[in-house]
Amino acid sequence: MINIAIIGAGDIAEVHADSFLMFPDICRIKAIADIYQDKAKDIICRKGLEHAKSYKTMEDVLQEEKIDLVSICLPPALHAEASAKALNAGCHVLVEKPMAASLEECDMMLKAAEKNKKLLSVVCQNRFKTPMKRIRQLIKDETAGKVKHVMINSLWWRGEHYHDLWWRGTWEKEGGGCFTSQTVHHIDLMIWMLGMPSAVTSVIKNVAHSNSEVEDVGVAILEYPDLLAHIVSSIVDHGEEQEMIFQTEKAKLNIPWNPKADYALPNGYRAEYTEYEARIDKLYKSIPALDLEGHPAHIRNMLMAILGKEELMTDGQEGRKTLEIITAIYKASVLRKRVVLPISDDDDFYKKEGVLSHMPKFHQKTTSVENFKKTEISLGRDVGR
Ligand SMILES: NC(=O)c1ccc[n+]([C@@H]2O[C@H](COP(=O)([O-])OP(=O)(O)OC[C@H]3O[C@@H](n4cnc5c(N)ncnc54)[C@H](O)[C@@H]3O)[C@@H](O)[C@H]2O)c1
Repeated sequence: MINIAIIGAGDIAEVHADSFLMFPDICRIKAIADIYQDKAKDIICRKGLEHAKSYKTMEDVLQEEKIDLVSICLPPALHAEASAKALNAGCHVLVEKPMAASLEECDMMLKAAEKNKKLLSVVCQNRFKTPMKRIRQLIKDETAGKVKHVMINSLWWRGEHYHDLWWRGTWEKEGGGCFTSQTVHHIDLMIWMLGMPSAVTSVIKNVAHSNSEVEDVGVAILEYPDLLAHIVSSIVDHGEEQEMIFQTEKAKLNIPWNPKADYALPNGYRAEYTEYEARIDKLYKSIPALDLEGHPAHIRNMLMAILGKEELMTDGQEGRKTLEIITAIYKASVLRKRVVLPISDDDDFYKKEGVLSHMPKFHQKTTSVENFKKTEISLGRDVGR
C-alpha cells in the first residue's frame, strides 16, 4: 500500500485527493497538511478519508507518518524547497505546475531526486488526454508529413479578483503571469509533441489586471530548425476558446479536432482535399482512446511507476523544459532580444533573484486575501477536446 501525503489543501488538492481515491487497492491518503489546518480537516471530512490525519506543516507529517509519496499542492514559490525536503526524507514527489520559480530551483529538485533515487514528476495532466495522445502519434509518425507551422491560442479569462489571493499576481510568489500559470499547460504539450525550440522572442503586457505585477497577455515566437511556432497567452479572452494548430505538409491537425487539407492546383493556388481530410480523420479515430484522463491518469501512472509496474511517463526533466521556455519568454520580453536556448547556469535569468531583478512590475499589488470562499475552478476549456 502506497502511503500518500498531500501538502497544501487548496483548490487543486481536492483534485489530487479525488484522484488518489480512485485507486483504493494500491494507495491511501494518510495526511493532508495546510497552514490553515481547518482546510485540511475540511477535505478529510468531506471526502471521508478515514486513514488521513490533518497537519499544519509538511515537516510535521514527515515526522509523524511513514509516507511514500508526497503530492505538493502549494503555491509555486514553495514547490522547490518542499519537494527537495520530501525527496531527502526518502519520499517520491508529485509536484504541481509550474515546477519551481527558477531553473536553479528545478536543478536542485532534480539533484535531490537523483541523490535519493526517488521519482519526481511535475503535473502535466493534459498529456493524459485522448486528443493529445492521438495528435502526438500522428506528428511523431509524420503521418501527414512534417510539421511546418504551429499556432497555439492559450486563451483564458480571469476576473480582477483572481489576483487578490495572496500569492497570485507577484513575480516573487507566483513566478509570473499567464505564461507561468496557464500557458504552462500548452507549452508542456508543445514540447511533448515537438521537443525544445532553439530560440525564443516575445512581448508581454498587463492590460486588464491592476492588482497584479505580472503579465496577463503575451505573444511568444519559438524557432525550431524547420518550423515556426507562436503562442498567444492570455487571461483576458472571453470564452477561453483554446486551440493548438499543427500545420503539416499535408494537413492541418488541431485540437479541438477539425482537420483540413489542401492540394496545389497547377498555378499554385489551393483546392480542398476532402478525401485526405476523411482519411486523416479515420486514422486519428483509429488510435485507441485512453481509459482514464487528466489528473487521475497522471496519478495512476505515478503510482504504477512506484510499484515498478509502469515506466514513469513524465519526469522532473520535462517540467524543467517547460520552465526553461517560460524563462526564455520573460528574458526575451524584458531585454527585447531573441534568446537562444539553452539558458546556462551563469545566465542572470537562471536564478530566481536574477529574474526578479529584471522583470517589470506592471502594477503594484494592493489587495491580498488569505483564502477565497470555496467555489469551482476551471482547468482549461478546450485543452482536452
Ligand atoms: N494542474 C492544474 O491544472 C492546476 C490547477 C490549479 C492550480 N494548480 C497549481 O497548484 C498549486 C496550488 O494552487 P491552488 O489553486 O490549489 O492554490 P490554493 O491557494 O488554493 O492552495 C494552496 C494551499 O497551500 C497552503 N499553504 C501555503 N503555504 C503553506 C505551507 N508552507 N505549508 C502548508 N500549506 C501551505 C495554503 O494555505 C493553501 O490552502 C499552484 O502551483 C497552481 O499553479 C494546478
